[in-house]
Amino acid sequence: MTMPVILRTVAELRGHVRAWKAAGQTVGVVPTMGALHEGHLSLARRARAECGRVITTIFVNPKQFNNPEDLKKYPRTEEADAALLATVPVDVIFAPSPEEVYPEGYSTNVTVAGVSEPLEGKMRPGHFDGVATVVTKLFGMTMADRGYFGQKDWQQLQVVQKLVLDLNLPVQVVGCETIREADGLAMSSRNIRLGEAARQQAPVLYAAITAAADDIRAGQSDRMAIREAAEKMRAAGFERVEYIELRDAGTLLPSDDPTRPRRMLAAAWLDGVRLIDNIPV
Ligand code: PAF
Repeated sequence: MTMPVILRTVAELRGHVRAWKAAGQTVGVVPTMGALHEGHLSLARRARAECGRVITTIFVNPKQFNNPEDLKKYPRTEEADAALLATVPVDVIFAPSPEEVYPEGYSTNVTVAGVSEPLEGKMRPGHFDGVATVVTKLFGMTMADRGYFGQKDWQQLQVVQKLVLDLNLPVQVVGCETIREADGLAMSSRNIRLGEAARQQAPVLYAAITAAADDIRAGQSDRMAIREAAEKMRAAGFERVEYIELRDAGTLLPSDDPTRPRRMLAAAWLDGVRLIDNIPV
């Protein structure tokens, strides 16, 4: 198995991408923060199927962490990640240092007003500015034609789509289905932090919002269905339900219009781990 080339600087990366583009190849990028799991690999495989060349970026972006402890604790597993990416295979891993991405004197910030403000934006101030800034930079650095993102981070996907539209970036954003464990738990790099008992209870998040969405479709009031979902989660041992919300799928504004695509989004704490999930309604 050939290991993908690991590049650390924008100059090296650009050298590769320029040669690929001169040969008429399309370039796909899968932005990640490492600690890769099957969800990331499914994005990379989709990019592999749709693009001539595939770059996976691994960069734990300090700007999107509003909690310094969380940044410190974030798993860094580059060797294992490279071995997994070799199975896809991707062509290049771009794993720059924080100084390469944010050199001395760096001063630009990308803010996507509106869609980045509620839900995760409210709970994690500054988070989406960090995401929007680094994704804009990664698109610029990789000069990719297509960018692959998971629907698990639904609000992030909307933020990225909006910035690409507003800034006329020549990238097609591809949103990919959430990959789940057999019991329904959405795959996430945080799941390994759950203790054994909590891991058994974690799928209740997905089960509860799925039941609420079914009840709403069957005519139950939004509020009642959401209250029942939160009660199920608390009964299963979730310490705190931060939000369960029914929103317009695109704007993420509150929506009681069932004729428009809607999304139920949730965030909750279990065993000291913050889990998020979302589904169409
Ligand atoms: O979803 C993630 O892992 C990150 O938010 C991203 C898109 C790689 C930006 O750092």
